[in-house]
Amino acid sequence: MSTETKETSGIVDSRKAPKTRWYKDAVIYQIYPRSFCDSNGDGIGDIRGIISKLDYLKELGVNCVWLSPCYKSPNADNGYDISNYRDIMDEFGTLDDWQEMLDGMHARGIRLVMDLVVNHTSDEHEWFIQSRSSVDNPYRDYYIWRKGRGKNGKKPPNNWTSRFTGSAWQYDETTKEFYLHLFHKKQPDLNWDNPKVRQEVVDICNYWFEKGVDGFRCDVITYISKEEGLPNGKFNPALMGDEHFVIGPHYHEYIHEINEKSWSLYDSMTVGEGQGITVKNAHEVVSEDRGELDCVFTFEHQTEVDSFLTTVPKKFSLRKWKEVFSNWQTLPDDCWNSLYIENHDYPRSLPRYGKLAYRKKVAKMLAISIQFLKGTPYVYQGQEIGMTNYENLTRKEYRDIVSIRIYDTVKKICPLFLPVVKWAMGKKARDHARAPMQWSAEKYAGFSTHEPWMPVNPNYTEINVADALADKDSIFYFYQKVIALRKGNEIIRNGSYKLYYPDDKKIWVYERAYNGKKYLIIASYTDKAAKFVVPDEWKNQNGTLLISNYDDSASKLSNLTLRPYEAIVYEV
Ligand code: NOJ
Repeated sequence: MSTETKETSGIVDSRKAPKTRWYKDAVIYQIYPRSFCDSNGDGIGDIRGIISKLDYLKELGVNCVWLSPCYKSPNADNGYDISNYRDIMDEFGTLDDWQEMLDGMHARGIRLVMDLVVNHTSDEHEWFIQSRSSVDNPYRDYYIWRKGRGKNGKKPPNNWTSRFTGSAWQYDETTKEFYLHLFHKKQPDLNWDNPKVRQEVVDICNYWFEKGVDGFRCDVITYISKEEGLPNGKFNPALMGDEHFVIGPHYHEYIHEINEKSWSLYDSMTVGEGQGITVKNAHEVVSEDRGELDCVFTFEHQTEVDSFLTTVPKKFSLRKWKEVFSNWQTLPDDCWNSLYIENHDYPRSLPRYGKLAYRKKVAKMLAISIQFLKGTPYVYQGQEIGMTNYENLTRKEYRDIVSIRIYDTVKKICPLFLPVVKWAMGKKARDHARAPMQWSAEKYAGFSTHEPWMPVNPNYTEINVADALADKDSIFYFYQKVIALRKGNEIIRNGSYKLYYPDDKKIWVYERAYNGKKYLIIASYTDKAAKFVVPDEWKNQNGTLLISNYDDSASKLSNLTLRPYEAIVYEV
């Protein structure tokens, strides 16, 4: 497609370099396909279901979709275990459906970022089937095989633990060796030291680019390079081995290679899942001249602010939350942030960051807090209507491999702790975000005509898209307004960031400024009254109201007593 066509029609096509870095002007909507919309009545979301909702996405105003994996997979980890990278999962449809979906997105000016899961494959991928068949199979070296320790060689080669609990090694009878799996045993790790593996990754990316995708979200990409000799990890009660593979010895070299042979040849975006990336080392991973990733998802705001050992909930600390986001806002200009508070791996932001009694106010306050920051914001399906955690899921209703493993292991080895586990999972399980999308008050929330693969949150009769679209004051329309406000907005895209009152435990106040124009963002994170005093720098500046989550917020900037979860932006 020629450049003129692109510009005049709004249709997007990334099949050519140079990179325009379009992601800096994107608001990305994440779809978890299994739970989004079921078109054929089998209880499982699918691609034709997505096609039927493209106008909805257009109306919301997002201009890019990140689609969680839709490739062939036995679904040990809901598609994050891929058995064929070049085809679509049967339950989701066909390649033709996928192409129609992509064309439909592009025709609406919406780009598509696919999930690239290449730290590991499924154990049902042909490469692994070959690899495990004999020690001299040509695919043997596609994976990481080692002899066991101990007299009979049945002890794992080292003490690394799987991120999904237990040892990261699985003994395989056929060749009497262990293979490494940093996730489930059905997700064997690829051996990136093998140049053939890296070439396969290049070929997979280029295959999808040629079909027209606009980029990749790179799953656990910082784990790809393991330290030679695979030394034991230092003791850690949660996860062992990290220091030997998180941004491992050849990480930069390998990512650079993929970028050179694939990503940089297209007008693409890559966003890496950035375990181990901190504000300090981010520059080495995402600065523009490195030719590696364009940006990363970071975790500090998810794991440190209200969690202990990542899975145990602890009291939310607004001070820590502000500190983490503020630190990331100080990235140098040649780096770019990703802004998200929900995805398929974390519970819903409601009631995590505010009380359910104020659901609409909290959701809108969070929209203001996050969408006025510098970076590319993500909206996870259902976040735009304020979907909430599904707190009362029972063991039978959990579907996530991690929830099930934790529950069953504790039940077996320490049943006394089961009530604690139930409480923790009621707050932190990944299942919360994976419950079916609530489209209407009809049976099964309008997600399907058949009993869905996991239960619908019973609150669907009150929280659903149909009601949101019928209510001018809904969270949906608030997101629509905020997303529209971001478009072409230089203050939000490029402005400086300044935090006020870092120690205040109730309110987050920050400033964005660009070329003499400024915003002051004020957000209350409490259901109690919260005092706001105009910062000295803003006194006598005639700040006027830009947007607020109450219809009667003060129209002029002044000292205020903020109401529960009130959020206001003033401009000068
Ligand atoms: C990160 C993904 O977001 C998560 O859902 C998955 O289980 C792991 N990577 C393993 O692929």
